[in-house]
Amino acid sequence: MHELDIVILAAGKGTRMRSQTPKVLHTLAGKPMVQHVLDTAVALRPDRTHVVIGHGAAQLREALSENTVQFAVQAEQKGTGHAVAQALEHLGSGKVLILYGDVPLLQRESLVELLAQVDDQHMGLLTVTLENPTGYGRIVRNGAGDAVAIVEQKDADNEQLAINECNTGIMAMTSAQLKRWLPQLSSENAQGEYYLTDVIAMAAEEGIKVCTAQPATAVEVEGVNNRAQMARLERVYQQQLAHQLMEQGVALADPLRIDVRGKLTCGHDVFIDIGCVFEGNVELGEGVRIGPYCVIKNSTIGAESVIETHSVIDGTVAAGLNQIGPFARLRPGTRLAVKAKVGNFVETKNADVGEGSKINHLSYVGDARLGRDVNVGAGTITCNYDGANKHRTDIGDNAFIGSNTALVAPVTVGKGSTIGAGSTIAKDVTDYALAVTRCRQLEKTDWERPAKRK
Ligand code: UD1
Ligand code: MG
Repeated sequence: MHELDIVILAAGKGTRMRSQTPKVLHTLAGKPMVQHVLDTAVALRPDRTHVVIGHGAAQLREALSENTVQFAVQAEQKGTGHAVAQALEHLGSGKVLILYGDVPLLQRESLVELLAQVDDQHMGLLTVTLENPTGYGRIVRNGAGDAVAIVEQKDADNEQLAINECNTGIMAMTSAQLKRWLPQLSSENAQGEYYLTDVIAMAAEEGIKVCTAQPATAVEVEGVNNRAQMARLERVYQQQLAHQLMEQGVALADPLRIDVRGKLTCGHDVFIDIGCVFEGNVELGEGVRIGPYCVIKNSTIGAESVIETHSVIDGTVAAGLNQIGPFARLRPGTRLAVKAKVGNFVETKNADVGEGSKINHLSYVGDARLGRDVNVGAGTITCNYDGANKHRTDIGDNAFIGSNTALVAPVTVGKGSTIGAGSTIAKDVTDYALAVTRCRQLEKTDWERPAKRK
């Protein structure tokens, strides 16, 4: 039996989140919880994945539009059994795995074993033993130790409430079993809902063995109902990532103070100081050092580069041996050749900075190309926007731009040229020329300052 359908329940409202956003769209490590579940599902190579939606259905369809999934709409939330039933007619003839959109840390490994046990005579149930089982359905076993029923907290007697083995909600069975059992569910229980959990008793009655498995760690099956649980799982996840990075040879100043919201790939001997956030796809080459409190998004930083504290880098490719920051802001389209330097309070955007060129202080360089060994003085601005359109600035090799220069684009500054400080350059500058636009200095000797009236 090789065919596999996965059903992900995601129709609930998540009242306790107190949010306009549907619960399963709240993000963990920058990604919606339900997307984590979908990524785990995909790793099992199912033939079809169904997401049961209800509350915030339109938002879910939109947020999950890049996934190959089928949506089943549960207009009214009448219980987990009723939710699965909405996908029933779309199921194939093989195995079915049921997952929850608000249980984001579940690992593929914990599901493989569960699925392997499923056939016409067996079903799989993922359980977890908890010190405090309050709120969970309890696993009832018979004298032989077989699971024969799940009793919900609200329906349990005192003896059942003392059971510590809990239902994670995650289970697997054949499509035929599910199609037999779901129509038999009743809502005669404390919550007036169609409980999916009642299929366990049906299986036992038919003599179908309920094979149980437990996840490697209990946190894998922890669900999110409120903001505090959300934050807790975020920290757990970030710590897992931090430990993976350290195993790969990354030095972290403090594994509790790093946030990775996407994929961070590091070469050997990378050092990351405290409070850094990495978003999207970030690659750090060998020996890169990142100072405290940097935010780096969708960027590649070449080997032996140093990024000093409080730098914000997005959509940038730095070739290597670069020095960036402190307090640099590199915006999308920034490309730094080897040994280029971008210092404090410098903003770049769509800028190609040539090998060994320096923009050390307080500048804006946008829509520009700088050749090799260009020196951009403090306070230089590329005036790239005329109020309607953007224009380019081109600066040749070895040019020296004096401090406080305004380069009014479109403009070309020739190689080896020098711009005097305080100039406003609106015309192209010839190679090796000196251009200066400021007025000549006027001097009145022995100038008497005005004095205060008596
Ligand atoms: C359920 C289980 C309980 C288990 C617990 C684990 C049942 C009856 N109970 O209880 O045994 O210990 O999960 O967390 O299954 N959902 C829908 N449509 C509905 C109802 C729920 O899509 O009509 C979705 C929710 O969005 C959620 C999941 O199903 O993702 C679980 O629903 P929830 O109401 O949280 O069930 P619990 O009472 O926690
Ligand atoms: Mg729940």
